[in-house]
Amino acid sequence: MALHVSKLTTRLPTPGSFGLRSVLGTRLPFTGPTFTDIRCAAGRRTLHLLVRQASDSWSAAKSLLLNSELGYYRCAVGRLGKFTAAGSKAFHHTSSSTTSNWTSRSRYQVAFSVLGVSVGAMATLHTTTMLAMSETPEIVTDWQKAKDDFLNETLEERRARCKGSVPLDEIPVWEAVKPVVEPKEVVNKKISLFQGDITKLEIDAIVNAANKSLLGGGGVDGAIHRTAGPMLKKECATLNGCETGEAKITGGYALPAKYVIHTVGPIAFGGVTDKERNALRDCYLNCLQTAVENKLRTVAFPCISTGVYGYPPKEAVDVALDTVRKFLEQYHDKLDRVIFCVFLETDKELYRLNIPRYFPAESPEPAGSAVKSKL
Ligand code: APR
Repeated sequence: MALHVSKLTTRLPTPGSFGLRSVLGTRLPFTGPTFTDIRCAAGRRTLHLLVRQASDSWSAAKSLLLNSELGYYRCAVGRLGKFTAAGSKAFHHTSSSTTSNWTSRSRYQVAFSVLGVSVGAMATLHTTTMLAMSETPEIVTDWQKAKDDFLNETLEERRARCKGSVPLDEIPVWEAVKPVVEPKEVVNKKISLFQGDITKLEIDAIVNAANKSLLGGGGVDGAIHRTAGPMLKKECATLNGCETGEAKITGGYALPAKYVIHTVGPIAFGGVTDKERNALRDCYLNCLQTAVENKLRTVAFPCISTGVYGYPPKEAVDVALDTVRKFLEQYHDKLDRVIFCVFLETDKELYRLNIPRYFPAESPEPAGSAVKSKL
């Protein structure tokens, strides 16, 4: 049963004509008595019902003014709907009654004025709420202002303010490491990178970066002699020293390692020439050969010459990896493990970056390539 709003608009502004739309933006559905029904207006009892519903919808509208919550809004609309539903019930009820002491004109005037009160309340309420929401001035917070100021700085202003800032063109592009050899899994699984104290390694032999006297010193040399104990020095004394690039073996004594292979690296303070490069290569090669000759299967190298002897670690790493790689190509069956034992974080990074160049992983089999020959 719909209230024919079109006929009513000539007499009473409908919610839609006030621009009154639900806060959800849609025209409010109105159900209620038809125009004809209103013409046979209510009796006294029904009129009381109408007035009560209208006052309820007004108080709901008022509470919405105070709260401007969508829920209250719906509640006010709901009451308005109840009011019109009650009105239609009343009109039906009255239209069936035979006598009424009201003139038809005054009854329908009262009904409409009550209806108008509640619709007007709704319209006021909604418009007030919309106005309140629409007039809120845009508040600029302090951080928004600061953000805009910084973003509008010129590059010169920014650089003048940020002392020591790093421009992008001072940051080199990442250089992907290119393998220098073909991948070979049988060789790859023979090496390890370990960061820590070489004197702790429980393996066949550790290499000592010694000096020509072989009687101990600082750095790794000192650490090895301290841990091995005094008998190491006694045996070293029998070896008549060691030349740069050469290697000599002793027992490990109190060390967890069984043997110590002593070598003397090149002194490279003045820079690296082929002489230093070849001497360093000899250190690695001779230590490996000494291990194989003594049937040792596992050996660990410190970063020879890169400490006291000043060999630049970035150049030493290439010599170390290249020499070990070439040796294992030939003698991978003679050794189970060659460990690069680094002590410093910087050396660890260097080896992590360069090991893949000398010990590249084999590329994964392309999908489907394992198809067996039909022959
Ligand atoms: N475990 C592993 N590596 C170590 C340890 C340790 N306990 N102690 C030091 N190192 C590292 C250093 O960080 C460096 O990277 O060993 C590398 C070699 O440094 P040095 O021991 O100074 O050896 P080197 O540069 O070859 O100089 C040899 O120094 O100790 C004296 O008697 C030695 O005269 C010889 C000279």
